[in-house]
Amino acid sequence: MSTETAPDAARPSTKKPVAAAPAIATDVHKSFQLGTIEVPALRGVSLTVHTGDFLALVGPSGSGKTTLLNLFGALDRPTSGKVEVLGRDLSTLSKGERARLRLETLGFVFQAYNLVPVLTAAENVELILELQGLGASERRKRALEVLGELGLAELAERRPTELSGGQQQRVAVARAVASRPRLVLADEPTANLDGKNAEQLMALMRKLSTDHGTTFVFSTHDARVIAHASRVVTLEDGRVVSDSALDSATRPER
Ligand SMILES: Nc1ncnc2c1ncn2[C@@H]1O[C@H](COP(=O)(O)OP(=O)(O)OP(=O)(O)O)[C@@H](O)[C@H]1O
Ligand SMILES: [Mg+2]
Repeated sequence: MSTETAPDAARPSTKKPVAAAPAIATDVHKSFQLGTIEVPALRGVSLTVHTGDFLALVGPSGSGKTTLLNLFGALDRPTSGKVEVLGRDLSTLSKGERARLRLETLGFVFQAYNLVPVLTAAENVELILELQGLGASERRKRALEVLGELGLAELAERRPTELSGGQQQRVAVARAVASRPRLVLADEPTANLDGKNAEQLMALMRKLSTDHGTTFVFSTHDARVIAHASRVVTLEDGRVVSDSALDSATRPER
């Protein structure tokens, strides 16, 4: 794969070279129509998410974090401006192509864990792998491997109701990363967790990011969660007001 034109090409990396940044927003505006009223959610956001970023999206309630995550996840379209994911301009993709992009390259973690209640932890993780067409034994192996990475090896056969909130959210993260996505989008992944579980989840996510070179973008209000980030982007009123890399000593290797 050529990397000549890659925005990330100049960055030193120990990982496989990649062709394009995981996500780029260029002068993105997004408004919602509420009856006759237009609600501006994003007002000219430009942001490049780099490979290996462990990026916290912060800002007051209503500042546009969820809206931006939904645009990067090809779950919604901007009113104007360009959104690119892994080098593909989302406006050029059909509905089917966007669904395929989500399935093959993105992972999602939601505030509510969204696990399928009748399936075990392992079966929940296997679900997306099945959609991707992986064979039964490979699926099982991958699911158990990822659950193990998240400290859930012993709990693989339990159903969501038989797990604590922190454990359920770890299953949700396992499900998001099992398909080896290039970019994981997480909207307040620790919102329903207590401080200790939130810290543990972030540490595990950060380790997955470092070990597999997976890029994470997550929104949060929690200062303890922000402390785990390699980069913090602050939104206010639908605009990026600051973008700072944290101390390189605490950053994952690229
Ligand atoms: N579907 C919608 N219809 C109308 N307005 C919306 C819709 N979704 C979001 N908004 C508005 O867009 C703005 C940004 O919302 P968004 O959900 O992105 O904020 P947020 O930063 O995620 O907030 P929070 O921290 O509370 O989750 C808000 O003013 C919100 O009311
Ligand atoms: Mg939100």
